[in-house]
Amino acid sequence: MQAGSASAYTTWRTRDPHSRAYGVLENALSQQIAANLVRPDKEPIPPQRDSRCLDCHVRQDATSAREAPTYSLEDGVSCESCHGPAARWIDAHWSSWRDRAASDQERRELGMVLTTDLVVRATKCAGCHVGDARRRVDHDLIAAGHPRLLFEFSSYLANLPKHWDVAKEKRDTPDFEARAWAIGQVVSAVTALDRLGHVASQADGLRIKDQRGSTAVAPWPELSEYSCFACHHDLAEPSWLHGFQQSGEESGILRWNRGNVGMAELLTAGGDHEASGPLALLGREMVRDEPRAHEIERLAQTLSEPLRAWLARDANRFTTADLCSLVGRISRPSAASPHWDWEHLVQIYLAVASLDQGLADQGHVPSTKSKDALKTMAETLAFPRSYDSAKPFGGRAPEAFQKAVESFLGASGVK
Ligand code: HEC
Ligand code: HEC
Ligand code: HEC
Ligand code: HEC
Repeated sequence: MQAGSASAYTTWRTRDPHSRAYGVLENALSQQIAANLVRPDKEPIPPQRDSRCLDCHVRQDATSAREAPTYSLEDGVSCESCHGPAARWIDAHWSSWRDRAASDQERRELGMVLTTDLVVRATKCAGCHVGDARRRVDHDLIAAGHPRLLFEFSSYLANLPKHWDVAKEKRDTPDFEARAWAIGQVVSAVTALDRLGHVASQADGLRIKDQRGSTAVAPWPELSEYSCFACHHDLAEPSWLHGFQQSGEESGILRWNRGNVGMAELLTAGGDHEASGPLALLGREMVRDEPRAHEIERLAQTLSEPLRAWLARDANRFTTADLCSLVGRISRPSAASPHWDWEHLVQIYLAVASLDQGLADQGHVPSTKSKDALKTMAETLAFPRSYDSAKPFGGRAPEAFQKAVESFLGASGVK
């Protein structure tokens, strides 16, 4: 076996959470989720055989591709889940490619996923971690006990035990951290918009076949596409939510969760999107008494077009300086981002964390003040012990968060 693959295997097997992704389908939480998904008098589908689970906990189309000799379901999210089905390239990989680097073209033609390209890489991760048109962690799954998906590419990438040469990657890609952050935001947005458009199209009277062959219509509204805290908030205390609400907003009103999209819009439109722009229109359509599915589908499409163009044209030009100026702009609520939902603040926090890493990569030594500021931001967003993401949380004023962002920018010499 090639040295690179052998050590990749060891890292993946011993340290990568993906090697346990099938295993978790056997645990008590998974069994509970499966039981909660069906009526009490019905036999649950075992998660280890439920293609819904396997498509994310192993790979897309896990059950139909099962005959492939090179992988088994038990491997969980393994080499082929990220690098593509190996059947057609494994021989070339271990023989001729050892002596000679294969071209990207050659690799792609053999079905290899070009994970060196950050856009391709982020798209691969987002399919499972954001959920795409065909794979979804919807409100039914969340209410049954599945953790809600809160993905931010650069921090997830940072947390993944690496089986490749990261130092080389950072040398080869200037501003790696900032670029990974920006690409992750835009890819997540495109993926989430595809998903939303798809869910809406299914709900628009279109009958779809469910797994057991009976006809079913996708539920609508799909609650996981809305801001969780519009419904799940602490009614007793003065709500944390109120501090984040902008003028003209009331609590208890359904709001579209733009957590996956808002930042990408700012990034690509330069922050000058208008109240009449597609983002605002989609937000309003989502909260109509009867949202029109075709309109949601159309607006999701309209929004994702410029994002795709940005990925094709500008993604590899994004710099740490661009991230600095963006963080300066997003650290205050504005007409462009009227809601300071928890989801949005998490994204701001992660943007600042990427900026911090990007500056460190360029040789800046972080000061105590900037470290403290990051810590305050994290604390503001943390849930009290034993609470999960759907429960009330915090108690800290949003001002503390905003001050911490400003303090970070000041301490880092960023205007
Ligand atoms: C859209 C993809 C997707 C689908 C569909 C999905 N999962 Fe997951 N699941 C994930 C991801 C991604 C995580 C890790 C979340 C994180 O940590 O950010 C996860 C986490 C979990 C966890 C928690 C694991 C742990 O280590 O604590 C359990 C349990 C679980 N999934 C079970 C299931 C079951 C059972 C099903 C099918 C009924 C299912 N999942 C369907 C993507 C998915
Ligand atoms: C979660 C996704 C993921 C999984 C699972 C995964 N890889 Fe990777 N792999 C990557 C990424 C991202 C890179 C870095 C970009 C690149 O070199 O393609 C990479 C790089 C590599 C490299 C190039 C190493 C270098 O330094 O150039 C090899 C070889 C490799 N992976 C083999 C494997 C093998 C073998 C497995 C299974 C045991 C595996 N990978 C599982 C995502 C994954
Ligand atoms: C085929 C679906 C799939 C793909 C592709 C995928 N993941 Fe995952 N990932 C999962 C699942 C499922 C889990 C949860 C596993 C568990 O709990 O044991 C997970 C867990 C993780 C975790 C641990 C999260 C935690 O809360 O501890 C990180 C980090 C992660 N993935 C990063 C990535 C990155 C970065 C990529 C792309 C390079 C990627 N993943 C690609 C499905 C996937
Ligand atoms: C429109 C209101 C609404 C929105 C938005 C909403 N939920 Fe729910 N949620 C409910 C209702 C009603 C129930 C109880 C019925 C059920 O189980 O579906 C519930 C149940 C739950 C449960 C089961 C445990 C419990 O507390 O009852 C969890 C966990 C949950 N939601 C999480 C979320 C998350 C996370 C989001 C955002 C991604 C979200 N919800 C968005 C209304 C909502």
